[in-house]
Order: sequence, then C-alpha cells, then structure tokens
Amino acid sequence: APVLLLWLVLGYLAGSVPFGIVFARVFGLGDLRKVGSGNIGATNVLRTGHKPAAALTLVMDSGKGAFVTLAALGLAGADAAQAAALASFVGHCFPVWLGFRGGKGVATFLGILLALAWPVGLAACVSWLAAAGMSRISSVGALGAAALAPVWALVLGRGDLVLLAVVLAALVFWRHGENLIRLRAGTEPRIGSRR
Ligand code: G3P
Repeated sequence: APVLLLWLVLGYLAGSVPFGIVFARVFGLGDLRKVGSGNIGATNVLRTGHKPAAALTLVMDSGKGAFVTLAALGLAGADAAQAAALASFVGHCFPVWLGFRGGKGVATFLGILLALAWPVGLAACVSWLAAAGMSRISSVGALGAAALAPVWALVLGRGDLVLLAVVLAALVFWRHGENLIRLRAGTEPRIGSRR
C-alpha cells in the first residue's frame, strides 16, 4: 500500500503540469484562460493559431501520463501503473497549482492507455480521429474515444483495464459538461476555428 500511495503522488504531480499554459506563455500567446473555451488543452492552444504550440501541448500532456504510467509499470507492476495512470489524469484535471481548475484530460487519457496497453490506446486514438474527423469537433472526438475505450479494452483482451477505462471515461464526460451543453445548442466550435 505505501508503494501505491507513492505512485498516486508521483502520478498526480506529473499529471498536474499544465503544458498548455506553459507553452502558451513560452510562445508568447498570452493567457490561455482568456482564449476560446478557456481550457488548458491542445485544442484550445490551437485556437491561438499556433500549431507547433498546440502539437507540443498534445504530445507533452499525453507524454506525462504515459511516462509516469510506464515508470510505475516497470518499477512497481500493474497495480502501481493503474494508480499512477488514474492519478496523472486527476492531476491534469485538478492541478493544485491552478487552484484545482485544470483541463479535461483527453490527451492524458490517450497517453495513459497507450502506456498501459498500446493496442487499446491505439484504438482509442483512432476512435478520436474518426469521431473528430467526421464532426470536425474536438470534444466529439474526446467523447467518442472515451465511450469506446472500455469496449476496446474488453474486445482486445484487456479485461483488467475495463474498470479503469470506465472510471476515466466517466471523468472525461463529466469534464466536458460545458461542451455537452454547447453541442446540444449547436454552438460547439469546429477544430481550429478561432473562437
Ligand atoms: O481536449 C479537450 C477537448 O475535448 C475540448 O476542448 O477547448 O474545445 O473545450 P475545448
């Protein structure tokens, strides 16, 4: 149990680094909170028009979850990896540094899945691309990928990941409350549009 607690803390700390805010500042894009949805993720960085900053945010927000999950897996085993994975997601969504007002966890969620079981992660990424590609809306990609992740875990023989995938999917949906309202109202912006 002390080992799991350690990985919960390390996972949280890794996940809590808000790369979107960091890169927005580094590239002189201003306060990300005042852009578009106000979210700290890659989708919102893209609304500044700076594609490299958005790409870096995507890679690093995914990478932080993947990195700490792989570290836990290699050093302490499967349970520690799931603990680190969940904690990094929670860290991204509720970072202490931002008064617990963080992101929506989508990139981190995909990175975590790639680290825990790359076929499941790949299927989730393809699900995101398919749903976002058809709708041209980032949150639709996120919600589609989240909803399908537990199914992919089951279908691809990773029953051990189904519960975690369900919990993460529920958290992703919860974090997309404002997006769901905009989707229903038909006002959710398309990817790359500067609103
Ligand atoms: O990754 C978050 C995405 O699903 C929605 O972001 O900025 O459109 O609320 P945003």
